Amino acid sequence: VDPRNYDDITKVVQSIIAQVGEDKAKSDIGLILGSGMGNIADLLEDKIVVPYEKILGFPSTSVQGHAGNLIFGTIHGKRVVCQAGRFHPYEHKMDLALCAMPIRVMDQLGVRTLIVTNAAGGVNKSFHYGDLMLIKDQIFLPGLAGFSPLVGEHDKRYGGPRFVSMHECFDKDLRVLTKDIANRMSMRLMEGVYVMSGGPQYETPAEVRLYHAVGADALGMSTCHEVVVAKQCLMKVVGFSLITNIANHDVDNANNVNHLEVIDAANKQGGKGVDLISALVKELPPPMPKQ
Ligand code: 6GU
Repeated sequence: VDPRNYDDITKVVQSIIAQVGEDKAKSDIGLILGSGMGNIADLLEDKIVVPYEKILGFPSTSVQGHAGNLIFGTIHGKRVVCQAGRFHPYEHKMDLALCAMPIRVMDQLGVRTLIVTNAAGGVNKSFHYGDLMLIKDQIFLPGLAGFSPLVGEHDKRYGGPRFVSMHECFDKDLRVLTKDIANRMSMRLMEGVYVMSGGPQYETPAEVRLYHAVGADALGMSTCHEVVVAKQCLMKVVGFSLITNIANHDVDNANNVNHLEVIDAANKQGGKGVDLISALVKELPPPMPKQ
């Protein structure tokens, strides 16, 4: 399976439909669960779980703390497909098209709204451990360096043009709605810019200051390539970062980050996203057909 090829993706979609049935597979909302956000899957009712091993062309996930299932179900009666366990470019030789393949699958399943979540380090000095950040915009560092999931042949059937507009990659109306819901829930919700590095090494304090200087509020190793593909497929996107640690700005007062701590923090704090995402799904406007 070539993850860029529309007809190959159709075969992947057919392999899923063969297992869960067309009615169950067709979905309006896609949900990608990042580290520690796995319990959001508990929101789904009438679930059917399809492990990645059973999906044509899907790579396996190897990172500790990440599952590997597509889950089909409903939240407040709305049809949701949930990607529990994502593909990080650093695990897959920086093949961003492969890592973003689930978004192309979702597109052909009918998904029009994508909710992405991740665990991230806080760069903004007013962020606290355990904060939830609504993503306002992104800095896709691998993308700037030529690692884009859109490199290769273009296919009009994805919906968007060759040169995908990223000027409002996180839907403005849905950001307003999300902030309004958080307000009504009296919930602390930060908002900011997410930057994706290739990883898997964490940043040096000097690199953290570099990202801070260019306007980043949170740092991670995922998501941006997925958002680019979602925009090519004309989806509306909402994103959340769970701040699992505060990135280190000062080499002389080092507080180290490690993966187990990030996973542990995400597991402890990840529940925060559940109520907000549940309410957001409930209040999402009906899906608009692809223009
Ligand atoms: Cl501090 N950096 C990156 N790149 N990803 C992270 C993180 C930091 N904390 C959680 N994920």
